[in-house]
This record gives sequence, C-alpha cells and structure tokens, in this order.
Amino acid sequence: MNFEKIAIIGGTGLTQLEGPEITASHDMNTALGKPSGAVQEGRWSDKTVLFLARHGHPHAVPPHKINYRANLLALQEQGAQAIIAVNAVGGIHPAMQSGAISVPHQVVDYTWGRESTFFDGEFRPLDHIDLTYPYDESLRQALISAAADITLPVCDFGVYAATQGPRLETIAEINRLEKDGCDLVGMTGMPEAALARELGIPYASVCLVVNPAAGKSEGEITMDEIRAVLSGGMQQVRDLLAATLKR
Ligand code: HPA
Repeated sequence: MNFEKIAIIGGTGLTQLEGPEITASHDMNTALGKPSGAVQEGRWSDKTVLFLARHGHPHAVPPHKINYRANLLALQEQGAQAIIAVNAVGGIHPAMQSGAISVPHQVVDYTWGRESTFFDGEFRPLDHIDLTYPYDESLRQALISAAADITLPVCDFGVYAATQGPRLETIAEINRLEKDGCDLVGMTGMPEAALARELGIPYASVCLVVNPAAGKSEGEITMDEIRAVLSGGMQQVRDLLAATLKR
C-alpha cells in the first residue's frame, strides 16, 4: 500500500489496538467539536498508524450521538491518508454467520437526524459528492489480499445497512433490509463512509459479524452471545489489520 499514515477507526470490541507501540496521544478539538476520544498515534508494521475509538474509550458514545464529522476532521488534521473502519455487525446473508468477517462493497443508509455532511452551506458551501462506490476499491482489495496472506477467510462482498440504533431491529425490519439487498446491519457505517469521501480520504470497512440479525436465528439476540464472539473475532480483525499494513 502506498500510504505512509493510515487511520483505523475502532468500533464495538476494538477500543484499543494493542498491536502498535503508541508514540503520541492527540487530544483534539476540531472546528466541528471534539472527536469521540484522543487520536492515538503509533508505529505498526513499518507504518504510522492513527487510532480513534468511535464510541470513545471506555465505550460510551451511542451510534446516533457520535460526532462523525469531528472524528473525520481530526483524522484528516493528523494527516490520515487512508481510513480503515472496523464495525461490529449483525449478519443477514447466509454467508454472514457469527464470527464471519466481511469487507463490504456497498451501503444503504437508513439513519436519520445525524450531521452527515461537511457541505451543509455553513461549514462548507453546498456540494454533491459522488458515492457510486462508497468504499475505496484498492483499499478493499488490500484487505482481501491481506486476509489471503494469513489464510483468514473473509467475505469479499457485503451490502451494509446502516440503521439508527442503539436498539437492534425487529424481524420485519430485517426482512425489509434483506429485500432491499442488504447483507449486514450495523449502526455506524454511515455517515462515516460519506464523510470520508467528502474529505477525499480513501475509506474501507472491516465488518465482524457478532450475531445473526433479528429473525436469522432462533429466539432473541443477547449481549452475552455478542460478547462471546467479539473477543476472539476482534483478535482476527487485529491480525488482518497488521497483515494489511504490511502490504
Ligand atoms: N443490528 C444492528 N447493529 C448491530 C447488530 C445488529 O444486529 N449487531 C451488531 N451491531
């Protein structure tokens, strides 16, 4: 990869990287407010890595209250040349069983009421960015190839449904998302991907499936089942990130 400085946005289950040696911690205040936490800087696999915990550390900011714009601005101000987002998600597609890892290629945004653009006519003049391909294809391919390097199975596709949260969905809502063509469901994929595009920063996501979405397994979804998948699954995600930085 041709990037010297890469940012990682950690989601649920990844509030600390634990791989890189941390060399600096940037407590920032952007023109659009404070990011979810300090931006950590470190060296990992011969690259400079920036790390930001999307929900803060400890995990406290709910998905609809995250200041996505401040998070993205902070990473840009620290010189991020690319962003890899990590997201815990529910699985809809049969290939997206608990523990599966997907590198999504498309997104449908069902969120509402979030500050979702820099081009709001106040911070920056109105503009309309292209989002035909919401994820950077070369970054996606780097992740998929890195997974092959370490023989880690990953799904090289996924349509990510971004829901409002923080509650999980009903069965009828998941059926609707499935009819819409969605494979995965999470609460934080948007507006993050669109904001990265607005800033011109290549962005891709690694999604760890932590539960079958509502109605895709018997019974209800419990936080215990999610936690059971998170710890082992996020270690695999860390391994994938390390392998990606080496490429
Ligand atoms: N739905 C929405 N977001 C999620 C889920 C889910 O089932 N699991 C983890 N994040």
